[in-house]
Amino acid sequence: MPAPLILALETSCDETAGAILGEGGEALAQFVASQVDLHRAYGGVVPEVACRAHMECLLPGVEGLLARAGIGPGELAAVAVTNRPGLIGALLVGMSAAKALALAWGKPLVGVDHLEAHVAAAGLACPGLAAPYVALVASGGHSNLYLVRREPPARGGMEPLAGTLDDAAGEAFDKAAKLLGLGFPGGPRIEAAAAGGDPRAFPWRNACLPPDGVNFSFSGLKTAVLRAARGRAGRLGPLILDGRGVTDAAASFQEAVAHALVSRTLAAAERHRTEWVVLAGGVAANSLLREKLSAGAAARGMRTAIPPPALCTDNAVMVAARARALFAAGVRDGLDLEAAAR
Ligand code: KG4
Ligand code: ZN
Repeated sequence: MPAPLILALETSCDETAGAILGEGGEALAQFVASQVDLHRAYGGVVPEVACRAHMECLLPGVEGLLARAGIGPGELAAVAVTNRPGLIGALLVGMSAAKALALAWGKPLVGVDHLEAHVAAAGLACPGLAAPYVALVASGGHSNLYLVRREPPARGGMEPLAGTLDDAAGEAFDKAAKLLGLGFPGGPRIEAAAAGGDPRAFPWRNACLPPDGVNFSFSGLKTAVLRAARGRAGRLGPLILDGRGVTDAAASFQEAVAHALVSRTLAAAERHRTEWVVLAGGVAANSLLREKLSAGAAARGMRTAIPPPALCTDNAVMVAARARALFAAGVRDGLDLEAAAR
């Protein structure tokens, strides 16, 4: 039986996205409208600005999507939408649109958890992925390690193993970039600035490994970057590093974050004796992190499933992939589907 066509919408943060997957899991059509330029002036995502931009971009995006996919609403089996977690107002824009479309077209609604969608991108990119596996979701709001015993996991079925004690990994990238005068969004800016830098120039390698041996902690590293970049006063004074210093600090920061994420993820996979390790979320677009995890896993005889960078940062293809698995498992939501920030 051909896979059902599902229209998927994603508006949980600062990307307005839509996608329809074809029968083989390829994107028949998709769009991602990034709001980076709107938020840059504020140095971070402003919820109010995000909501307005979602309102402006979403329905025109869907119209173009259907036209490019060459399908009409009648051919869709369902409308899927990210309903958690995320900025509550931003989620509500996507959900209101999805509910209106589902009602108007007479289609069932499927609510998708954003973090489960990030992990589903790995299964889409790597169809050989088999459970059990350990999955790391590292994004702007989360740095969570899960054990997944069944592929695809049931709703809410990813078992939390570890997380961050303070900031999320992506949040740390964004804050460090600001401190180093690199601008927004921090992840790609730090990655670019770190090229050619010395990752051992600053003694930060183990800064994100709390003594519990399991979780992550990024706020201590943030303070170290603040001191190195702005001086001992610990306030946002003028930048005291020269160009070489910024490059070295960016490289040392990136090394510390990647080292923590990789070592704790591989240790979890070893503890749970999984053959597969999944890396997902916006931070998974980072080349150093991807390389370190792949090399570390290979050295232990493990296999990795890592989506291509465009499927790591927020997109709707991953939402469609997750929705397809839920739909196949019989999941249908009503118009009373609720949004949840957490
Ligand atoms: O998953 P995502 O697109 O949105 C959320 O769900 O939060 O993740 C966004 C985060 C941002 O903090 C961004 O700085 C980070 O992912 N990011 C990166 C890279 N590209 C995006 N971090 C490190 N290296 C990158 N290349
Ligand atoms: Zn995300």
